Amino acid sequence: MNKYVINGGNRLDGEVKVEGSKNAVLPILAASIINGGESIIHNVPSLKDVNTLVNMLKTIGCTCSIEGNTIVVNSSGDLDINIPEKPVREMRSSIILMGAMLGRFKKVKISFPGGCEIGLRPIDLHLSGLKMLGGKITESHGYILCECDKLYGNEIHLDYPSVGATENIMLAAVSAEGITTIQNAAREPEIADLQEFLNKMGAKVTGGGSSTIRIQGVNHFQNLEHTVIPDRIVAGTYMVAAAITGGRVILKEVIPEHIKPIISKLGESGCKIYRYDQAISISCGKRPNAVDFVKTMPYPGFPTDMQAQMMALMCNARGTSIFIETIFENRYKHAEELIKMGADIKIEGRAAIVKGVNKLMGAHVVSRDLRGGAALVLAGLGAEGATIVDNVDIHIDRGYDNLDLKLKSLGADITKDEY
Ligand code: EPZ
Repeated sequence: MNKYVINGGNRLDGEVKVEGSKNAVLPILAASIINGGESIIHNVPSLKDVNTLVNMLKTIGCTCSIEGNTIVVNSSGDLDINIPEKPVREMRSSIILMGAMLGRFKKVKISFPGGCEIGLRPIDLHLSGLKMLGGKITESHGYILCECDKLYGNEIHLDYPSVGATENIMLAAVSAEGITTIQNAAREPEIADLQEFLNKMGAKVTGGGSSTIRIQGVNHFQNLEHTVIPDRIVAGTYMVAAAITGGRVILKEVIPEHIKPIISKLGESGCKIYRYDQAISISCGKRPNAVDFVKTMPYPGFPTDMQAQMMALMCNARGTSIFIETIFENRYKHAEELIKMGADIKIEGRAAIVKGVNKLMGAHVVSRDLRGGAALVLAGLGAEGATIVDNVDIHIDRGYDNLDLKLKSLGADITKDEY
């Protein structure tokens, strides 16, 4: 097991390159099944979740070679339609393999992905969408079997703009006969990146990034090459690291358009943020102003994946902030750890009231989910004294590529230790 040991108080100063997006590359890796050929994917971050999905692709029969941040997947030949159970339980987003497998092989068997630390994570919208395309779904003994003679395009209206359900339906519909439209689709930038990947493969998808996506099914796909977009949540995390230490950081290879809600909230807290073509600079004073209200919403609202990091910043703001977490029902686990560091936080259901204190104190804290863990690291950077963050390899390594080394390059006093 690994922990981070952080001695707080250093002002961060310098440049950092933002890695490729975890939440873009996972559906893109699933999509590499569809063409039965070669997909060359650049700007892939080295993350535990990426390794988990790559290993699943290998287990079902794909060949995958990794060279630096480039992965070459070859999905030719017959693949095993049984998705291995253990990794699905470890990483529930592997459910994204369903649509691609159903589209190509007309059959897929996968174990029910468990919930995770932040919520139950139901998949009803995924399954109803695949059914609308002609999938016949049977559930027994914890497994889902989905099969069809043929997939047919259809009009699908999502009750909720679910990111994963939108992606799963796209991955099946590209091989369906006829036209599929997805109404009330998720608008996250990762959806537009998946659309670009699919169209390079020969699919005909439009509307990605808007709430109506149109897919005209095709029956031939080709090899392709693609570069994954930068990770907007990692970018936001480094921006908060600058803010929490009163530092000045330049983020390279970021798409400012994708982080507008984060820029807006950090601007409200008093940070000076300048946008360049593919870069952002952020400089902040000693202590942030409290942002009155942070409500997480589907894109382009404030991202739920940045709620914990923003809360860490507000812990020593001037004033009181109110958070409303509208997306996941159990995404405040980091609050009790921040309270150990001296934060003044009250949780009332989906609301969290954060009263800024003068300074957090270092403490021994435990990360309980990916973004909550990152928030504890950020809190440690600004705290007085030493902070130990446990469970780094279980949670933080899933979604951050060498977080400690990149923070160290910006001047943070952080080391990763075994325990
Ligand atoms: C994606 O999860 C991201 N993961 C999450 O990032 C992110 O927090 C989330 O989108 C919201 O932006 C990946 O892309 C791999 P949803 P996903 O389906 O697709 C409900 C991180 O930290 N829902 O948009 O699972 C669900 O319960 C992770 O990087 C249903 O009710 O999110 C939740 O309340 C965490 N039925 C809401 O929708 C369904 O069938 C949002 O879920 C599906 C979802």
